[in-house]
Amino acid sequence: MTRLTSKLCVVTGAGRGIGAAIATAFAHEGAHVIVTDKDAASAQSVAARIGAEAMRLDVRAEEDWDALATAHPQIDVLVNNAGVTGFEDGAVPHDPERASLEDWRAVHAVNLDGTFLGCRYAIAAMRAMGAGSIINISSRSGQVGIPMAAAYAASKAAIRNHTKTVALYCAGQGLAIRCNSINPAAVMTPMWEPMLGTGPDRQARADAFVADTPLRRFGRPEEVAALAVLLASDEAAYMTGSELTIDGGILAGSAAAPG
Ligand SMILES: NC(=O)c1ccc[n+]([C@@H]2O[C@H](COP(=O)([O-])OP(=O)(O)OC[C@H]3O[C@@H](n4cnc5c(N)ncnc54)[C@H](O)[C@@H]3O)[C@@H](O)[C@H]2O)c1
Repeated sequence: MTRLTSKLCVVTGAGRGIGAAIATAFAHEGAHVIVTDKDAASAQSVAARIGAEAMRLDVRAEEDWDALATAHPQIDVLVNNAGVTGFEDGAVPHDPERASLEDWRAVHAVNLDGTFLGCRYAIAAMRAMGAGSIINISSRSGQVGIPMAAAYAASKAAIRNHTKTVALYCAGQGLAIRCNSINPAAVMTPMWEPMLGTGPDRQARADAFVADTPLRRFGRPEEVAALAVLLASDEAAYMTGSELTIDGGILAGSAAAPG
């Protein structure tokens, strides 16, 4: 497994879930991986498991990105994976009528500001080599409206657009720095815990979330990681500004599609 041999790859929010799966897959493909997370302990535990380096990095904090730039002024791959729904600390309203400005901004601070800061760092850290791959984890929720998760949906839509801006900017500068997004739908990770809850109706709730998904199941973090490996590798050298959807087929249809 040598698709990423000798590549230096940074993954944010890699202490668990999709980020941990991406870091694991990258290490498996021969990359030198820097596992970062705002939770230092989880980053360290993943790094120890896969033989990688760990670093605490809160994607909202400019000074944390500066510290990363000092430690690693040159990289090959960055995955902007860290993200929040806004429901981590309980069920607060996130619809467009009742969401508070504070909660709206808190979601954007991680998802959008974090991705902006990550892209900015990566362009500088890839410029010397003139090449690299930036992978932004957006979401199916950034492709459709989500009435009960307005900030999440808006921030993920903005990530898709910023991905294209970064791709065009780098190409315009004559750099082979590629920037693409991955748009997953429901992938079973700890992010779902507040929505699934505990108790006897947990399975029924999980089934309901994927009832409209043609493949009728949650995706697995490893399935998203496989796409990240492709985008990080030189096999994807002609891909930039593009989006890879991984959603069990849900966006292939719509309410207007014939049954
Ligand atoms: N799980 C899904 O169904 C799904 C679907 C579409 C998109 N996504 C996206 O995939 C990404 C990963 O999701 P997941 O399901 O693995 O989530 P998760 O909640 O399981 O893990 C998120 C990780 O990000 C870290 N994190 C949170 N805020 C951070 C910050 N400010 N700085 C650094 N790290 C921070 C957390 O500590 C955690 O380790 C997110 O961007 C999410 O929006 C997930």
